[in-house]
Amino acid sequence: MTDHLETKSTQTNATRRTVLRTAGLVALAGGGAAAFAGCSSDGDAATPAAPSNSAQAAAGATVTKTDVPEGGGVVLQEKYVVTQPKAGEFKAFTATCTHQGCAVNKIEAEQIVCPCHGSKFSITDGSVVGGPAQKPLPTVNFTESGDNIVISG
Ligand code: FES
Repeated sequence: MTDHLETKSTQTNATRRTVLRTAGLVALAGGGAAAFAGCSSDGDAATPAAPSNSAQAAAGATVTKTDVPEGGGVVLQEKYVVTQPKAGEFKAFTATCTHQGCAVNKIEAEQIVCPCHGSKFSITDGSVVGGPAQKPLPTVNFTESGDNIVISG
């Protein structure tokens, strides 16, 4: 009878160990899953941030005032033109030509030039100086922030 009880006790201990091991594995797996979930969660959090950063880059631009020549300007990201017609006076326009939509690509002789068909626009107000474009370059809102011109897009 005692043998039977010992055997039963041993089986019970074995069963308990098995249950505990299994529980431990489950706990580890659970912890691992939680850790992966944490990583996954971090990854998920980073994933939406990337397009957001890209959107910010695409939606605006910043240029240092000293990079905008007086009597000239700069084209930013093929999207914007920032000019300085007079010392300390800045203007911003879209870089999309109003003729057929090419991006203007340079400023020459105080004119913004489109490479596709040669339209020219004033650096002062974006008005057409030479066709074939018929409409001025639209102005773009910007702010002056310290040494920078910031176009929010
Ligand atoms: Fe600019 Fe034609 S698209 S001149």
